Amino acid sequence: MKKLIALIMVLALALSLVACGGGGSTEPEEEAAAMIGVSMPTQSLQRWNQDGANMKAMLEEAGYQVDLQYGGDNDIPTQVAQIENMITQGCKVLVIAAIDGSSLTEVLKQAKEQGIPVIAYDRLIMNSDAVSYYATFDNFLVGVMQGEYIETALDLKNATGPFNIELFTGDPADNNATFFFGGAMSILKPYIDSGVLVVPSGQTTQAQVSTADWKSENAQTRMENLITSNGYSPKGVKLDAVCCSNDSTALGVTTALVSVGYTAADMPIITGQDCDKASTKNMIAGLQSMSVFKDTRTLADKVVGMVDAIVKGSEPDINDTETYDNGVGVVPSYLCAPVVATIDNYKEILLDSGYYTEADLQ
Ligand code: BGC
Repeated sequence: MKKLIALIMVLALALSLVACGGGGSTEPEEEAAAMIGVSMPTQSLQRWNQDGANMKAMLEEAGYQVDLQYGGDNDIPTQVAQIENMITQGCKVLVIAAIDGSSLTEVLKQAKEQGIPVIAYDRLIMNSDAVSYYATFDNFLVGVMQGEYIETALDLKNATGPFNIELFTGDPADNNATFFFGGAMSILKPYIDSGVLVVPSGQTTQAQVSTADWKSENAQTRMENLITSNGYSPKGVKLDAVCCSNDSTALGVTTALVSVGYTAADMPIITGQDCDKASTKNMIAGLQSMSVFKDTRTLADKVVGMVDAIVKGSEPDINDTETYDNGVGVVPSYLCAPVVATIDNYKEILLDSGYYTEADLQ
């Protein structure tokens, strides 16, 4: 009997050594956390710094290592080189907010060859079959919200006008700009066609109203030119509204208008998007009418969920399989919900939710 017990104990010890990886080691080998590459377009706009920081923090909390890179100041070759490096370093998933949606086709071929899934973050990556998923906000709806804000503020359904309006959208290489502009025009164009809204500059196509790199300086320069050529001023030709696709363009437009004497009392209706700090302050000061709040924490949370599902071999959560065709096929997407922000609700959506502190908006 004693011999039998001794034999069982020896066997149990041998088995436990095998379970520990054998080789005499009693420490289980820790598997290194998977590295996730996060490529953001620029640090010169507030939102991308926020997006990058949120993604890094949330991925790390979920147990991943993160290689977070910003593509200089919207520098395409820098972004391409950074992605190449992420592939060489063995990143398991790439999360990319493209500077130029169509410039990543070649580098993403390498990702595909190595079996690295790619998630397009906020901006769709065009002309590539390497894109597995897309997470963004409902970009067309953002534009619709801007158009509807102007429609309500000027009571376009009842008033005959004519009201003067100018249009500003974003960088032509950003696929989102087409959706923002398309959404806004789906509301405004019928009024332009019927003459209730007039665009004195005559600039109504996306190409004519785009803003290179979404830069405030570029929007400001164009608005200054429009002021000069159309005679807009508080005492001169009336400007009723400027439909801007986002806050960085709205900021440039507002700066140009303030510099020729506009104040909160006579500011045209100005739309925006992102609830950047500078634009939210303008909203509080009466210099911008609205913005569209896209809670970057929600987007980051969704994308971290996608990454996690991919790494663990399950299906990521998606809610749209029709809207976003990148030229080689429809990319399965998750669209988060945007929210209209105004002076009336900014406290609730931005302060109460902890997105900003009071000090951020001082
Ligand atoms: C984003 C906007 C942002 C713009 C400029 C777009 O792709 O969706 O939120 O304002 O880029 O950075």
